[in-house]
Amino acid sequence: MQGKALEWAYEIEGKDFRNAGKVSSKVKEILKELGFDPAFVRGVAIASYEAEMNVVCHAEKGTLHFAILPEALKIVVEDQGPGIPDIALAMQEGYSTAPAEIREMGFGAGMGLPNMKKNTDELNIASTVGKGTVVEMVIRPPLPRE
Ligand SMILES: Nc1ncnc2c1ncn2[C@@H]1O[C@H](COP(=O)(O)OP(=O)(O)O)[C@@H](O)[C@H]1O
Ligand SMILES: [Mg+2]
Repeated sequence: MQGKALEWAYEIEGKDFRNAGKVSSKVKEILKELGFDPAFVRGVAIASYEAEMNVVCHAEKGTLHFAILPEALKIVVEDQGPGIPDIALAMQEGYSTAPAEIREMGFGAGMGLPNMKKNTDELNIASTVGKGTVVEMVIRPPLPRE
């Protein structure tokens, strides 16, 4: 691959529960097709699904950028939305501000950010209240066997 980055970008609509999950399915499909380790692909799919769902559930709209770099996979999800006032609090297992109608659909368990943390090597969140959020995740694939 010699320093050449493979990059994709997909739009995510807030409150579009019909299409929710499609972007992370696409990411999963690309990685599977490229022959990445199945356990690695599963972890990436979980992390990107949770990031995608957070845009659907909590923001107005966003974009998922996905790049295969020489040594790692990078996913950046940026959105326009309310932002996260207290990131440390949002990171806690079970913490959710999802309203009743979202919980009724089976979302809002407050495990998204903790699961993103668990399935990534690096997770960075930058957020401005009233503007939006940028979530950056780096995931390193297992070293290929000889
Ligand atoms: N992109 C986002 N924009 C605004 N708030 C967010 C975003 N992502 C997460 N949050 C906040 O962090 C909380 C915890 O997120 P998460 O762990 O994914 O749980 P859940 O999505 O089930 O509520 C959310 O309830 C919400 O308050
Ligand atoms: Mg979530």
